[in-house]
Amino acid sequence: MHVDLPPQIMPLDAILPDEPLLMMGAGPVPIPAKVAAANGIVINHLGDTMAQIIDQVKNMSRYVFQTDKGTILGVAGPGSAAMEMAIANLVVPGSRVLSVVNGFFSQRLAQMSERLEANVQRLEVADGHSADLDAVAAALDAYTPDVLTIVQGETSNTVCNGELAAIAQLAKSRGCLVVVDAVCTLSTMPLNMDEWGIDAVITGGQKGLSCIPGVSLVAFSEAAWQHIHQRKDTLRHWCLDAKLAEQFWYKKSYHYTAPVSGILAIHEALRLVCTETLPVRFERHLRCSSALQAGIEAMGLKLCVAPPARLNSVVGIDVPLHIQASDLLRTMSQRHRVEISGSFGNRNIVRIGQMGEQCRTHNLFRTLHALGSSCDSLGMHVDLPAGMAALESTLEAFNRSNKVATAS
Ligand SMILES: Cc1ncc(COP(=O)(O)O)c(C=O)c1O
Repeated sequence: MHVDLPPQIMPLDAILPDEPLLMMGAGPVPIPAKVAAANGIVINHLGDTMAQIIDQVKNMSRYVFQTDKGTILGVAGPGSAAMEMAIANLVVPGSRVLSVVNGFFSQRLAQMSERLEANVQRLEVADGHSADLDAVAAALDAYTPDVLTIVQGETSNTVCNGELAAIAQLAKSRGCLVVVDAVCTLSTMPLNMDEWGIDAVITGGQKGLSCIPGVSLVAFSEAAWQHIHQRKDTLRHWCLDAKLAEQFWYKKSYHYTAPVSGILAIHEALRLVCTETLPVRFERHLRCSSALQAGIEAMGLKLCVAPPARLNSVVGIDVPLHIQASDLLRTMSQRHRVEISGSFGNRNIVRIGQMGEQCRTHNLFRTLHALGSSCDSLGMHVDLPAGMAALESTLEAFNRSNKVATAS
């Protein structure tokens, strides 16, 4: 032995805070106790028990992705691995790819396609705006792509592509395979894979599904699956080869040792979504995010994106120039034990997530208070009571209109 033991090895207790921070950033998000418990279990990755769990994961995923006949595959990896699985299986060298680029993650889909030697045309969308249907139509006409890539919610700059349904339907009608990144949005807002004509939907665990990071899902349409099976070339990504993954996800046999604990956690996360039902879950997300946005604005802060391009799943806030976003994050974390996110790049913004367990009223009150109080202590006066009141009254207004709707 020539390598000595490190001089000091600390147990996790000595590193982690006594009480976990409230994770209100752009992901990972808090996970329910059932998901955490499932993540602590290890079972045989093959065999009848696993087969039953995989069946349920696929069935529940079909509901969450809103696809009857889609092929569901799990990926042992981050949301980016699921992005890469979709791209690697649908894009062949020389494919013509039209990438609608709103920000960092939609750019990543374009870069992944370029690495596969596709001819990529980017349709750059102006900052703070969502993709425009007419502009996409013109690009489809001019470029005649084989594959269109687009993100539903661009977490990096908090823009939502609200015309996604029409864009997907249009691209599909032009014979194009449509790949949608729904990593931050799935189960937080409507996405109807079959109805909208989407060929691949990508999601990660750690956002809308309120699960752990590192286990992700992809759904392929029938057309996408046919394309995959008709390919004659050998895929460059062994782990991400959908035909190899099919061995595990549909034929009860070995591809690689599946991340069993993560799959059990995803099972529980999906089960909680199915128990809540999508309409109720969408309403909870809309209600909580709208109330948070109202509270932030009533305090006197400015949101980065104006409606209708504003994403509800992650809310971006412009930080006034005399305060550093990093100081605001640090104060919220150290003084209030609330963790939110900064920006991608050098914009002076902070982002608050509204995904899964983040959309609970008690989390909203604590987060908004931490935000306002931290701004104040950094020398930026905000009207904290007005913000808290707007949060409360917006939640109430949603409750009242819900009661009226239920009664009528
Ligand atoms: C919209 C979107 N796509 C893709 C990703 C990539 O996911 P991961 O970081 O798990 O690779 C993220 C992560 O923040 C995201 O928000």
